[in-house]
Amino acid sequence: MKMSYADRILELPPYLFERIDRIKNEMAAGGADIIDLGVGDPDIPTPAPIVQELAREAARPENHRYPFTAGLSVFRNAVAGWYSRRFGVTLEPGGEITSVIGSKEGISHVPLAFVNPGDVVLVPEPGYPVYGITSAFVGADVRFMPLTAENNFLPDLGAIPKTVADRAALMFLNYPNNPTAATAGPGYFKEVVAFADKHNIVVCHDAAYTELYFDGKKPVSFLETDGARDVGMEIHSLSKTFNMTGWRIGFAVGKKEIVGGLAKVKSNMDSGIFQPIQLAAAYALDHAEELTPPIRAVYERRRGVLAEALSAAGLEYRMPEASFYFWVKTPKGQTSESFSAMLVQKAHIVATPGSGFGPSGEGYVRFTLCAPEERLTEAGERIVGALK
Ligand SMILES: Cc1ncc(COP(=O)(O)O)c(C=O)c1O
Repeated sequence: MKMSYADRILELPPYLFERIDRIKNEMAAGGADIIDLGVGDPDIPTPAPIVQELAREAARPENHRYPFTAGLSVFRNAVAGWYSRRFGVTLEPGGEITSVIGSKEGISHVPLAFVNPGDVVLVPEPGYPVYGITSAFVGADVRFMPLTAENNFLPDLGAIPKTVADRAALMFLNYPNNPTAATAGPGYFKEVVAFADKHNIVVCHDAAYTELYFDGKKPVSFLETDGARDVGMEIHSLSKTFNMTGWRIGFAVGKKEIVGGLAKVKSNMDSGIFQPIQLAAAYALDHAEELTPPIRAVYERRRGVLAEALSAAGLEYRMPEASFYFWVKTPKGQTSESFSAMLVQKAHIVATPGSGFGPSGEGYVRFTLCAPEERLTEAGERIVGALK
C-alpha cells in the first residue's frame, strides 16, 4: 500500500518556532538553567476549590456517562450568569451557549459551519495560527489582516478591497490580543459590526484573554456592541481566566442561529466534555468575582517586574493593558529570529520570535508573564548582560 497524506496536511506551513525549540532543548540538555518566557501556559495551579469540585463530582457514577454535547444546563446557566454580571449581556442558556473543548477546539470548527471552499476568511496577522490553518483545511481563501503599531494592532477594515470583503464568509478577531497584547474598544467593535453587516460576514471574536486585565481596565465583550449579535459570536475559555489550560473547557456564545451552526458541527464530531469538568467550570464561573482577582494580581505584579527589566535593557514595548504578553521590539539590526536565538544562547531565555505569528510580527519578540517574579527579575538581568 502506498500511503500519502492529504494535501491539507502537506500544505501546512513549516513550524516556525522549530529553530528556537531546538536550541532551547540543546541548551537544557547541556544543563543550562532556562527561563522559558515562550509558552502562554500559566505556571500557577488551578484554584483549590475548583479542583475540589472536580474531585467531588468525579466520584459520582452518574457523571461517568456520555455528556450532552452542547453542555450541561448547570454549566450553561453559569455561563449566562457570568456573562450578565461581567458584561451586562443577556444570553438564553438553551440556544445561545455551547460548550467547547477549550477555545482552540471551538475556533477550529467554526470554519466548518460557515465557510465553503473558495470563500474568503479574514484572519489577523500576527495571530493565533489556528484561525488561518483550520480555515485552509476547509478550502478557504485565507486573507490576512496585518496588525501593526501604526494601526494600534487593529485590522484596518478600510484597507480590505471591496471585492475581497464581498467574498468573505468569516472574520476572526481576538482582543485582548495574542501576541500583541492590544485591546479593542467599543468604537472599533462598532466599525466591525457595520463592516460585517454590509458584507454579510460572520465574525468570530476570540475572547480568551478578557479576564487578564490590568489597572482595573476591563476589556469589553464584542456582544456588548449594538448589532453584534446579528453578525457574530464570541468564544471564551476558562484556560487563562482560572489557570485551567489542561482542563479543556470553554464556551461559544451568541445568537442561536450563529452558535447553532457551531453546535451542529460539534454534535457530529465530539460528545461533549466530561461532566465533572463542566460542573467544576460552572463553580469557577459562579465564583469568578472571588477567584479571578488574585490571579490578576499575580500577573499585574509580574507585569511591573518585567516592564522594569525590559526598560533597564533598553528594549521598546507598549505597556500591556491586558493578556499576559509583552510584544517587544527587537534591538536595531536584529530580526525576530536572530534576537530570539541570541536570547536563548547567551541569556538562556526563551522568547517567541514575532515572525512565527505572521510576517507583520517581524521585528518583535513575545515574552509571557508565565514565570515567578524572581525569575522575571533574573531574566531582566540576563538580558541586560547579553545586550552589553
Ligand atoms: C488567542 C488564543 N486563543 C485561543 C487559545 C486556546 O486556548 P484554549 O484552547 O486553552 O482555550 C489560545 C491559547 O494560547 C490563544 O492564545
